[in-house]
Amino acid sequence: MTDNEVERHYSQGDLYRGITDALAAAGVDLANLEPEELDPVEHFHGRGLAATADLAASLAPAPEHEILDIGSGIGGPARYFARTYGCRMVGIDLTAEFCDVARRLNAAVGLADKISIEWGSATDLPFADGRFDAAYSQNVSMNIADKTTLFGEAYRVLRPGGSFALSELALGDGGDVIYPAPWSSDGVHSHLLSEQQTVDALRGAGFDVVSIQDNSDAVRQFFEEQKEAVRRDGPPKLGNFILMGDNAKEKARNAARNQMEGRTRPIEILCRRGL
Ligand SMILES: C[S@@+](CC[C@H](N)C(=O)[O-])C[C@H]1O[C@@H](n2cnc3c(N)ncnc32)[C@H](O)[C@@H]1O
Repeated sequence: MTDNEVERHYSQGDLYRGITDALAAAGVDLANLEPEELDPVEHFHGRGLAATADLAASLAPAPEHEILDIGSGIGGPARYFARTYGCRMVGIDLTAEFCDVARRLNAAVGLADKISIEWGSATDLPFADGRFDAAYSQNVSMNIADKTTLFGEAYRVLRPGGSFALSELALGDGGDVIYPAPWSSDGVHSHLLSEQQTVDALRGAGFDVVSIQDNSDAVRQFFEEQKEAVRRDGPPKLGNFILMGDNAKEKARNAARNQMEGRTRPIEILCRRGL
């Protein structure tokens, strides 16, 4: 599976319109869009905004930091970092349409001067050695077979002493992953590793592993709460399902099932580049 096919998996054709139509239908005033009003839609990973907030806190961003988001999607996590910590953000993503939507949403909420978005691959970062104070990647590495190059690139662009937070789905012991899932329709461009294999690959790239967190319980609770909210209030008008294309419901259902049955395991690994 090539990068082009991964990009095709995520592309929708008119996603910006899909997002703004959904926001308008939910009663959001698009002429005066506040960054927080995008929260339900723009975090393309389990546990949404809460997961981004936890990951951001682990990197302790400072206003003078420049931070790289590897696989930045439509830019939700980068906007959260910029608006919460005042740091400067750079996002890079393989899906041109996501980059375009990210730039338009940055402008729509007045954050364009804090965030720049590049179209490119995580395995060939167009940035100088040692440029960034910190970097992270959320639910992206599942699409990338070559972890050695992925983690090697993250290491290369970090300054000595800089931190890298990796959030991803690892393989669980509950059986085969069920597809279509949000990151892959049929498993062809799905490259999940076990937690230990991921740690070994990070160490192989030169990182010191600072902490490993298994977020399975938190993600399960999130799915339970979502199910309960749908039972109580009906289907939500806004959610990251808007980013998942025609079979979004089936992908979301399978993501929950993979998690509930222990087929996938959401992990977060904090690493550091030595001095
Ligand atoms: C599930 S989305 C997560 C987006 C974002 N990190 C977030 O959490 O909101 C996966 C993203 O990884 C990007 N991606 C996959 N392979 C990539 C690669 N080799 N280089 C850069 N981005 C990649 C996709 O285009 C997509 O935007």
